[in-house]
Amino acid sequence: MEKSKGLAIITGASQGIGAAVAVGLAHDGYRAVLIARSRPNLEKVRDEIMKSNSCTPEPIVLPLDITDSAKVDYEVRSINRKYGAVDILVNAAAAFADGSLSESVDYFRNVVETNLVAQYAVLKTVTEIMKAQAGGYIFNIASRAAKYGFSGGGIYGSTKFGLVGLTESLYRELAPSGIRITSLCPGWVNTEMAKKAGTPLPDEEMIQPDDLLRTIRYLLNLSENVCIKEIILEMKKSII
Ligand SMILES: NC(=O)c1ccc[n+]([C@@H]2O[C@H](COP(=O)([O-])OP(=O)(O)OC[C@H]3O[C@@H](n4cnc5c(N)ncnc54)[C@H](OP(=O)(O)O)[C@@H]3O)[C@@H](O)[C@H]2O)c1
Repeated sequence: MEKSKGLAIITGASQGIGAAVAVGLAHDGYRAVLIARSRPNLEKVRDEIMKSNSCTPEPIVLPLDITDSAKVDYEVRSINRKYGAVDILVNAAAAFADGSLSESVDYFRNVVETNLVAQYAVLKTVTEIMKAQAGGYIFNIASRAAKYGFSGGGIYGSTKFGLVGLTESLYRELAPSGIRITSLCPGWVNTEMAKKAGTPLPDEEMIQPDDLLRTIRYLLNLSENVCIKEIILEMKKSII
């Protein structure tokens, strides 16, 4: 069994971008903490990690709804006590939502709960842990929809603009504690979410989930003196 490089917590790890990042970081030697609601899908990702590299530290499957902030706080702190430092947090869990003003206020509130309030709660817990250990790296998966407004995309976009806004402040606040934080803002990524959202691009023309993993690896490989607060990943065949 390989010695763990540390803990990497990945929300949204049951599929898509989160799963690709979890598999990659696990192969790099991190003990991946896999968070999403679907236990069977998380177990599939865990099995994929263990099957392709038996030397990888065994991932931790943590089925959680991230909107249950008290439970997330309890579970993350328990894992920190048991396994030690939290080196990486990847906030990838989110839900797509259509519409700008067409939907009810309750619908809007639910999307904000999942895509922004829940991230806020995860960040509160994890930054407290990272401050105590004086280091760590946080990746917030925002979106190109956090940089441009799209017709009919106001609800989703406002949560992603909010996440980038929060990251912008945290980037300045956390640096003195040795914690780095970066927003990743991709265009269409080849996942279930893109299909659900009606991407006009064929699979092969979208950004691939592994491109997010490679971006994270690139950021982790920079010297600790460098902070990059935001990366926008455009598609080569850019469409507005
Ligand atoms: N795909 C794109 O085109 C695109 C572009 C830009 C940004 N993004 C962003 O990239 C991130 C990952 O998206 P993706 O494309 O990989 O989407 P995806 O395939 O739909 O995956 C979303 C993940 O979030 C989890 N999740 C959703 N709600 C949750 C909740 N309440 N509690 C816990 N986990 C929850 C899902 O798992 P469960 O259902 O098992 O809970 C799943 O693992 C998201 O933040 C998304 O907004 C995506």
